Formats: sequence, structure tokens, C-alpha cells
Amino acid sequence: MGLLSGKRALVVGVANKRSIAWGIARTFAEEGAELALTYQHERFRENLEKLVPELPQGATMLPLDVGDDASLAALRDSLTSQWGKVDIVVHSVAFARTEDLQTRFVELPREGYALAQDISAYSLVALTRAILPLMQAAGGGSVVTMTYLGGERVVPSYNVMGVAKAALEASMRYLAWDCGADNIRVNAISAGPLRTLASSAVKAASALRDVPERTPLQRNIVLEDVGRAATFLCSDWAQNITGQVLYVDAGFHIMGV
Ligand SMILES: NC(=O)c1ccc[n+]([C@@H]2O[C@H](COP(=O)([O-])OP(=O)(O)OC[C@H]3O[C@@H](n4cnc5c(N)ncnc54)[C@H](O)[C@@H]3O)[C@@H](O)[C@H]2O)c1
Repeated sequence: MGLLSGKRALVVGVANKRSIAWGIARTFAEEGAELALTYQHERFRENLEKLVPELPQGATMLPLDVGDDASLAALRDSLTSQWGKVDIVVHSVAFARTEDLQTRFVELPREGYALAQDISAYSLVALTRAILPLMQAAGGGSVVTMTYLGGERVVPSYNVMGVAKAALEASMRYLAWDCGADNIRVNAISAGPLRTLASSAVKAASALRDVPERTPLQRNIVLEDVGRAATFLCSDWAQNITGQVLYVDAGFHIMGV
């Protein structure tokens, strides 16, 4: 028996083997969860097809564009017919145009700001709403999203994504309040910098990865750290934890210098 035995988990955000969502999926599988993984487009579907056989019990693979309500509805319909209930939703998604990350913040155009907000923050609301009836059918659920310190403090060059993470964390708290009556918990993990496709677009991420001595534990985190934290938050052991940001950053966020 694992911590998540008997639970059905939807994991959104696997692009490749470095994805935080993949680290979470692997730990979920080790802890007994049944998995559905989504892919954003064809190239990522091919990546998933190579990765899924590494999971002891495989996984259902479904397409999803979080910026498209029809795609979210189709995902809900597929999961309704295949599972009928969902216990866990992992939202591990972010997007901003490269030029909007690289420009001076004061020069950020309106459409770049709106796009980052839509895909990186509003999508948590849209995804939770789409899967809500399936979590209600399960008698409750746990939603976990991925954030970063740049949403609460200034991390130079995180720019538009920092503002999106601030909105994501606030959305997480309002969802925790709104969905609490359905026994649905909503939390965020604030991860330290990891080398992934998304983080390669952020100049600050590589700079921070190179200075583990600035963290209390004097090391960088690894994918498994995030997988284990997400497993805890989605397990019954965390049954009265909601609306929280859990830092998985080797302690970096407590530092003042
Ligand atoms: N890597 C880090 O250092 C770090 C640190 C803290 C938080 N995070 C956050 O973790 C999450 C996952 O990022 P990652 O670092 O694993 O990178 P990643 O590139 O592996 O994952 C990002 C995912 O977002 C998905 N995505 C983007 N737009 C989408 C859309 N319209 N519809 C569906 N999916 C879409 C991509 O397909 C990809 O799977 C992000 O929210 C990121 O901000 C990352």
C-alpha cells in the first residue's frame, strides 16, 4: 500500500523527462496512484509515449490546451467516461513569450502580460472548474499548483512570470476558500530552480541554480523533492492543509542576503 493507493490523479504539464510534472507523476505512481497525463501538442505526446512505459502501471494520455475551454471540456468528458471520479489534480503549467521575459518590465506590452496571466494563472481556475464535478464525485480532492519565489519577491528577469505567479498564488487561496465546502484542498509548491524547458527561458533561473551555497542546506533541489512534497499534499496525511504555499527550495526563501 502506498500513500496514494486507490486515488486517481490527473497530472497536467509533462513536456519531457525534466518536467516537474514528470517528477510528480513518477512519485505518484510509486505511491500507488492511477494516473492520467496530458500533453499540450504532438511533439510532447511523442515524449510522453516514450516516458509512460517507465511507470509501473502505465498511464492514460490525453490532449489538453489549458488556454482553450473546448479542450478543457473534452478532457472532463474523457475522464468522466474513463474514471467517473478524480481525487488529485496537478497543475504544472506556465507560459510567457520569450520577448516578454527579456524586455524591461516597464516596457511589457499589454498582450504579453495578458497571455502570461491566462496560461500561467487563470488556467488553474479553469482546470479546477473543469474537473470540479469529478472531484465532487470522489467526495473531495486535492489540487496542487507550482509556483516560484519570484511571485512574492523581485527576482530580476523573472518579470512577467513573477506577476503571473502572484496571481496564481492568490487564485490558489481563493479556490481553497471556494472549494473547501466540497472537501477540495488547493495548495501550491514553491520550488527552487530546476533545469527544465520552461526555466531555460528565464535568465535568473540558471544564475540561481549556480549558487547553492546561498541556501541554508547548501544544495539545489532535485525533481524527486517536488514529487514527494506533492505526494504528501495530495495524500490523506495532509487532510487539513489547504491554501498553503509549501517551499521546496532547500530553505532559500528565508534568506535576507
Ligand atoms: N523549473 C523551475 O525552476 C521551476 C521553479 C518553480 C516553479 N516552476 C513551475 O513549474 C511548472 C512546470 O514547469 P517546468 O519547470 O516543469 O517546465 P516544463 O517546460 O517542463 O513544463 C511546463 C509545462 O507547461 C505546459 N504548457 C504551457 N502552455 C500550455 C498550454 N496552453 N496548455 C497546456 N499545457 C501548457 C507545457 O506543455 C509544459 O508541459 C511551471 O508552472 C513553472 O513556472 C518551475
